[in-house]
This record gives sequence, C-alpha cells and structure tokens, in this order.
Amino acid sequence: SWTTESIVDEQVEAIRAQVGSRRAICALSGGVDSAVAAALVQKAIGTQLTCVYVDHGLMRKGETEQVEKDFVAATGVQLKVVDASERFLGALAGVSDPEQKRKIIGREFIRVFEQAQAEIVAEAPSDEPVAFLVQGTLYPDVVESGGGTGTANIKSHHNVGGLPEDLEFELVEPLRKLFKDEVRMVGQELGLPAEIVQRQPFPGPGLGIRIIGEVTRERLDLLREADAIAREELTAAGLDGDIWQCPVVLLADVRSVGVQGDARTYGHPVVLRPVSSEDAMTADWSRLPYDVLGRISTRITNEVSEINRVTLDVTSKPPGTIEWE
Ligand code: XMP
Repeated sequence: SWTTESIVDEQVEAIRAQVGSRRAICALSGGVDSAVAAALVQKAIGTQLTCVYVDHGLMRKGETEQVEKDFVAATGVQLKVVDASERFLGALAGVSDPEQKRKIIGREFIRVFEQAQAEIVAEAPSDEPVAFLVQGTLYPDVVESGGGTGTANIKSHHNVGGLPEDLEFELVEPLRKLFKDEVRMVGQELGLPAEIVQRQPFPGPGLGIRIIGEVTRERLDLLREADAIAREELTAAGLDGDIWQCPVVLLADVRSVGVQGDARTYGHPVVLRPVSSEDAMTADWSRLPYDVLGRISTRITNEVSEINRVTLDVTSKPPGTIEWE
C-alpha cells in the first residue's frame, strides 16, 4: 500500500543517513521483528550489513532452514550462521528451573554472538568500522521501556536473552514507530517469505522454556514434532488469524499411562496453549473448534509415539502467563 511503501522509503533514507559508509551487524532470531529490521537495513546499505544467526538448537521445526535459505534468498543478506546447539545443550544439562534456563540461554547467546562479531570485524573486507547494531525494537517495546533512545536496554525478557549492554555500538532501530501488524506489512512489502512474516510470536529461549523439566535433544525432537503438527493443523483449518500463538508444552517430567493396540504405554503428556491477545500483556484462551483439537490430538499421539496424551490449557492471562515457564 501507499503507507507501507512510504514507511520503507522513509526508513531506508534514515538508515543511510545514520550509517553512512560504516558497517552494521544484526542478530537474527528467526522472528518477524529482527527479520524485517534486517531486511530494511539490507535494502538501505546492502553489503555493509552482516547478519548473525545463532542456532541454539531450541528452534521449532523448519525455522533454521527458513532463515538460512528463504530469508537469504529473499533479501540477499550476508549471513553468518553459528551452529551452537551442542554448546547450549551442554550448558543446559541437568537444569530444570525456568529462570536458570533463561539465564543460561541468554549468557550463552551473548558469548556466541560476541565471538561471531569479533570474527566479522576480523574478516572485514574494508577498513570501515562495524559501528552499528540493528535491533527490531517495536513501538510498544519503546513505550514499555520508558522511551529511552540509543542504548541497548531492551528488557531481557523480550530479547534473545538480551544482548550485552556494554557493546560499543550505536543502535539502528528502524521499527521504533511501528506496531506488529505494520511490521508484518513492511515485511510483506519487502518480499519476505510468508512463513517468517506471518510467524507466531516465539520466545527467545525457544523450546527450552516449553519443556517442563530438563532440556535434552530427545525431548526437543519430540516437542518439535508435536509443535509442527499443531501448527500444521491450525494453518490447515484457517485459524492462524484467530489466534495470537499456540505454544505446545511438553510435560517431560510427568508420565501418563496409556494404551496403544494391546500394549500399555507410559509416555508424556503435552499441553496445547492456544491464546488470543492484542499485545500479550493479557490473553484469553482460544475457543478452538473441537474437531480441530481432535485432529491435533489424534495426529500427535499417532505420529509421536512417546506422547500418549494431549491436554488443553483453558486459563486466561492473568492469572496464567502465556508460556508455562
Ligand atoms: P508470557 O509467558 O510472559 O509471554 O505471558 C508473553 C509473550 O512474550 C513471549 N515470551 C518471550 N519472548 N523472550 C522473548 O523474546 C522470552 O524470554 C519470553 N518469554 C515469553 C511469549 O511467547 C508471549 O508471546
């Protein structure tokens, strides 16, 4: 539309004016905001931008490939991918406490990102300094954090663990005046893949905080399959626009008895947590059609043999948060 086009033009101009001939880096999380921010900066300054994608192994099915292949194909961005899943899983071994998990994931993210940043500086094709950090800060984030500018003081909760505060970068925040729906429109205008532009909000710590109990590779694989089935069925039923997000939570420390064929099983339950919301500050549980819930349940228990029970969370926020951890 006219307005979306003018937002893009205006931001491209502003980014060029701010960055000049220097260089910028951007951490891609796989989410909408960082993707759209990066695409705008790419459009403005091209190869002066390098993006970093830290694969912490806690992503949902297909997401890493969407960043590595589809996003790069759509934008032509220079991308450095760091496969750090071993490292994150090692650091998370034996940890069940939600706040501990968040801290560990945040800390490891910063370390990996700093290393990647040092490599980017060292490998620089030009003498221009890497002076800018691109962030996908939205208007509601600006308002919530008191409207300050120029410093990396985003609430750690809303960031990929929170980037280090002492990074010597000036911030580039091309989405500071926008709401989520406008960000999606800008992303569409820039030709980003629908899977990224329409993506449900996903927490920085990823599936790590959707496994109740210790995070292991096996448990991640189970949850990834169950989550992919739920998303597929919601999309097939045309419900993506009705829900804000639908976390699938693996109760990994709980076992439940089931029966499959003649055999008794002793597996794990998952919880479906579909919610509707305007801004995630408050939320209501979504009244999904029973037949859709039924299909999700049947498919998960048939296709993921270690999961033998599917339950539905019917709690609003407050008192329940959207995520279980
Ligand atoms: P809660 O669980 O607090 O979630 O009701 C509100 C919204 O924020 C997302 N969320 C996070 N996002 N890092 C993030 O980037 C986090 O640590 C985090 N925790 C929750 C959640 O998915 C929901 O959209």
